[in-house]
Amino acid sequence: MTASGSIQVPRGLAGVVVTETALGDVRGREGFYHYREYSAVELAEARTFEDVWHLMVIGRLPPAAESEAFAARVAALRRLPDTVAAALPAIVRAGSGAGAGLMAGLRTTLSLTGAAAGFRPVFDLDPEQRRTDALLACAVTPTLLAALYRLGHGLDPVEPREDLGHAANYLYMLTGQEAAPEHARAIEQYLISTIDHGFNASTFTARVIASTGADVAACLAGAVGALSGPLHGGAPSRALDSLDAIGTPERIEPWVRERVLAGDRIMGFGHPVYRTEDPRSRMLRGIAQRFGGPLVEFAVEVERQVEAILAELKPHRELHTNVEFYAGVVMEQCGLPREMFTPTFAVARVVGWAANILEQAADTKIIRPAARYVGPPPPARLP
Ligand SMILES: CC(C)(COP(=O)(O)OP(=O)(O)OC[C@H]1O[C@@H](n2cnc3c(N)ncnc32)[C@H](O)[C@@H]1OP(=O)(O)O)[C@@H](O)C(=O)NCCC(=O)NCCS
Repeated sequence: MTASGSIQVPRGLAGVVVTETALGDVRGREGFYHYREYSAVELAEARTFEDVWHLMVIGRLPPAAESEAFAARVAALRRLPDTVAAALPAIVRAGSGAGAGLMAGLRTTLSLTGAAAGFRPVFDLDPEQRRTDALLACAVTPTLLAALYRLGHGLDPVEPREDLGHAANYLYMLTGQEAAPEHARAIEQYLISTIDHGFNASTFTARVIASTGADVAACLAGAVGALSGPLHGGAPSRALDSLDAIGTPERIEPWVRERVLAGDRIMGFGHPVYRTEDPRSRMLRGIAQRFGGPLVEFAVEVERQVEAILAELKPHRELHTNVEFYAGVVMEQCGLPREMFTPTFAVARVVGWAANILEQAADTKIIRPAARYVGPPPPARLP
C-alpha cells in the first residue's frame, strides 16, 4: 500500500489476479491448461475447431446435432460485407497487405467490418446481440487475412466456401487450392490449441476495452495490436528464421551461446507462466514429427541444445520451447507462408478474445488501475 492508498503490484502485473473467469486457466508449474473444464490439448486432439469455438463462446461442447448446426451457422458468416471487400485493394495499396502490414491490415479491416455490420457498443446490447457480433467477427477474420495476403501479392481474393471446415476453408482461401486433409487437420489442431491461454497481454487488452463498453470490433482491434508485438504473438516466424540462421547442427552451440551471452533472447523459448514444458509445444512437436523430415529433426536438435545452454547460462530460470517454436515448424510443413504465421495465431485467438469480451461485457465495472508518479515534484512554477 502506498501513501496515496494505492496497492503496489509486481512489474508486469505478474501473478496478480485481476478478475474471475469461467473460460479456462493455465497451470504454469504443472504444464497444463484448460478451456472451461476440459484439457485444451485433449480438445485439440479430439474435436473440431468449431466445437471448441462453441464451447468457448456458447459455453458448452455441442452434442452432435448442435455441432453441425453451429458449424453451418458460422460458415454462413464468412463472406465479407460488400463495402469491406470493395475497400480492401485500397487498404493493401496503402501498406497493409504483405509482411508485418498484415496485422495492421487486420486491425483496420476488423474495425471496418464492425462499422459496416453495424456493431454497437457492448454496453448497449443484450448478451445474444453481443454474441452475434462476436461470431461474425471471428468468422470473417480468416477471410480478411486471406484476402489481404492475396491482394498484397497481386492475387485476387478467393471467396470462402461453406462446405469446408474453418481451418480447411482458411487454407483454401489463402492458396485457392483445397489443402491435403492431414495439413488441414494439423492447422486445425494448432488453431484449437491457441484459442485461449489465460490472461495474456492481448486477452487482457480485449477485456480492458470491453470493460469500457466499446463495440466488439474495437475490443478485437486493440487485441490484435497487442498480439502483433514480438514478445507476444510475433515470434513464430522469428523462431523459424533462427533455425535458418543457425543452419547446421554444429553451429547450434556457438550461435546460441554468443547470442545469450550478448543478452539476446532466443525466439521460441521461455514463457511468462510455464516453468516446465509448454503442453502446446509438446503437442505441436508430435504433429511435426507425424509429418517428419529434416526440418523437424533439426528443430528437435536445436530444442535439445538450446535448453541445455539456457539451463547453464540462466540457471535461475526454467526455459523451454514455447508454443511458437513448433507452431512455426508445423505451419511451414503445411505450406503456410511465414508472413502468415502471426496472422494465423490471430485466426485462433480471436475466438478466445471474443469469449473474454462476452464474459467481461457482463460486468459493468470499468478496468481502471493506477500508476505511481515518479517525475519531478509538482506543482512546479510554470516557465
Ligand atoms: C516469452 C518471454 C517474453 C517471457 O518473458 P518473462 O517471463 O517476462 O521473462 P523475463 O524477462 O523475466 O526473463 C527471465 C530471465 O530469463 C531470460 N530469458 C527469458 N527468455 C529467454 C529467451 N528466450 N532466451 C534467452 N534468455 C531468456 C531473460 O533474459 C532473463 O534473464 P536474466 O534474469 O538473466 O535477465 C521471454 O521468454 C522471451 O522474450 N522469449 C522470446 C520471445 C518469444 O518466444 N515470444 C513468444 C511468447 S509465447
